[in-house]
Amino acid sequence: MPQSYFALGDAEARYSPHQIESTDDEYDDKNELEPWPTATVRGTLVFKRIALVGVFIIYTIVVFVVGYVSTTLGISRGKAVSDLSYLQEKYFPSLPQTYDKSITFNGTLDYPSEFRGAPSPDVDRAWNRSIDLGAVNVSLSDEDMKLLGVDPDTSVKLPLEDGGIYRLHFEFSHQLHCLNFLRMWTYRDYYQETQEEFSDTPAMQRMHIDHCIEMLRQFLMCHADTNLVSANWVAGREKPYPNFNTKHTCRDFDAIVDWAWDHQIPIKPSPKPVGVHELPLPP
Ligand SMILES: *[C@@H]1O[C@H](CO)[C@@H](O)[C@H](O)[C@H]1NC(C)=O
Ligand SMILES: *[C@@H]1O[C@H](CO)[C@@H](O)[C@H](O)[C@H]1NC(C)=O
Ligand SMILES: *[C@@H]1O[C@H](CO)[C@@H](O)[C@H](O)[C@H]1NC(C)=O
Repeated sequence: MPQSYFALGDAEARYSPHQIESTDDEYDDKNELEPWPTATVRGTLVFKRIALVGVFIIYTIVVFVVGYVSTTLGISRGKAVSDLSYLQEKYFPSLPQTYDKSITFNGTLDYPSEFRGAPSPDVDRAWNRSIDLGAVNVSLSDEDMKLLGVDPDTSVKLPLEDGGIYRLHFEFSHQLHCLNFLRMWTYRDYYQETQEEFSDTPAMQRMHIDHCIEMLRQFLMCHADTNLVSANWVAGREKPYPNFNTKHTCRDFDAIVDWAWDHQIPIKPSPKPVGVHELPLPP
């Protein structure tokens, strides 16, 4: 039996010792010990079939290698877009995420938004609305977790009574947490007591601050806002003065946050399950 393992198809199998022992006497004498056919017409046909099989195998390998290389190397941009829209369309068909809002930014230096000013419970509430959200009530499959670039095996799941699904949050919550953390850092005296992060070691606080700056940098570069800003001539100033009060094409942030509240699962303290697979170091 093992002799015939090298046979790619019936053509080659005819030349295996296993086959030669058979009643196919036409090849018995001439080809008994010949691995390749001699110059008979039938031999040429067989050779052509072997060549065809070879070409097919090489073609398959080339297609595979090109696909693999383009996936692993630079073409990841196109791939990333299709992964994101695949996940978004599959899991969030009702999330209002089209860029259909025209918002005139206010870049006037002292523009008093509800997110700024001396620290107060009102300012905290404005920030907390988009930060204090629970987990997104969405159940990703293991395969789709891999599309996110995460290892399902070590990813945290919610308790069974909350569906036992993977614990996932919207990134905007973390980004706003980071920006808010930088804001609170500038008002340390006020937040010293209530923010436990401000009791960390100075080195840890430095790391947290730099992490937040780094996350916001990566986000800003990821989205490279191509809305436009202009400049004005201003009395008493010789240099053009930037005008950030231009119209921007935006997502409807309030609608997204409303959706997130409608589809959230509050996080309850829950102990680490026994025997879960863990990462040796933080990701
Ligand atoms: C921006 O805010 C300032 C201060 O409240 C206000 O005077 C100005 O009209 C606003 N500009 C725009 C474009 O809304
Ligand atoms: C806002 O969130 C922070 C951090 O979670 C918390 O310390 C603070 O009490 C919250 N404030 C309000 C008004 O909800
Ligand atoms: C999460 O969504 C499921 C349906 O997919 C629903 O049955 C469940 O009640 C939701 N959980 C919460 C906390 O809203």
